[in-house]
Amino acid sequence: MSKKSINHISIIMDGNGRWANMRNMPRAFGHREGIKSIDKIVKACSVRQITQLTLFAFSSENWNRPDYEVRVLLKLFEDSINKYLIDLNKNNVKLNFVGDLSVFSKNLQASVKNAINLTISNTGLKLNFAINYGGKWDIVNSVNKIINEKKFNDKTNITLEDIEKNLSITDAPDLLIRTGGERRLSNFMLWQHAYTELYFADCLWPDFSEKELDRAIEFYQDRIRKFGSLIEVNSDLKKDA
Ligand code: IPE
Ligand code: IPE
Ligand code: MG
Repeated sequence: MSKKSINHISIIMDGNGRWANMRNMPRAFGHREGIKSIDKIVKACSVRQITQLTLFAFSSENWNRPDYEVRVLLKLFEDSINKYLIDLNKNNVKLNFVGDLSVFSKNLQASVKNAINLTISNTGLKLNFAINYGGKWDIVNSVNKIINEKKFNDKTNITLEDIEKNLSITDAPDLLIRTGGERRLSNFMLWQHAYTELYFADCLWPDFSEKELDRAIEFYQDRIRKFGSLIEVNSDLKKDA
């Protein structure tokens, strides 16, 4: 059987806190270890010629965590962007950030802008970080963009295509991986995951390895994607439902 193409992988990187707890360490230790997993998996996806990788790093609901944890996470993002940027650029990775970034500190916003600008012409893996991102926010944001662009009157309807092309990420992931054992979307790309294959791994994000990634890809290879029809449909040819 020929291999199915896999262009876009999305990941809910869950389990950092539990990983640290199991070692009697503070949760921040788990988050720092989680960054090393990101580095590993980004490189592995580049090698496997995955076109696009979207990582859920901070949800719109994660503001409900204690202030201290939120501060640790945001500082870690800023430091990690600056630490890994040169290496990512060398590896031809094109960085993008999605979510409501307007609430972040000037420093974090500057790091984000710098990372996007530096890697804008890169032609390798497209790497999207979702921070302060929620799937519901994405849809509302899309609708607001449409309203602001169009002059509305009673005769104008918003179409599926309008909403789709104004989302922060327009390509639907082929495969979603969630680590940490939970089997839920936690408000991650609600629209884009409509027909995505879902893979849940029990291992915690800091333990997620290249081998685990290959296991997820193997799972994907065994799926028969029908998009509502009775036969397998090549997702490259499928231009949305
Ligand atoms: C995922 O790990 C990272 C973020 C949500 C930022 P968690 O922090 O949710 O770890 P657990 O689920 O508590 O173990
Ligand atoms: C989902 O993990 C969000 C990220 C990985 C960024 P959570 O740990 O926040 O999800 P819930 O609260 O268990 O649904
Ligand atoms: Mg969690």
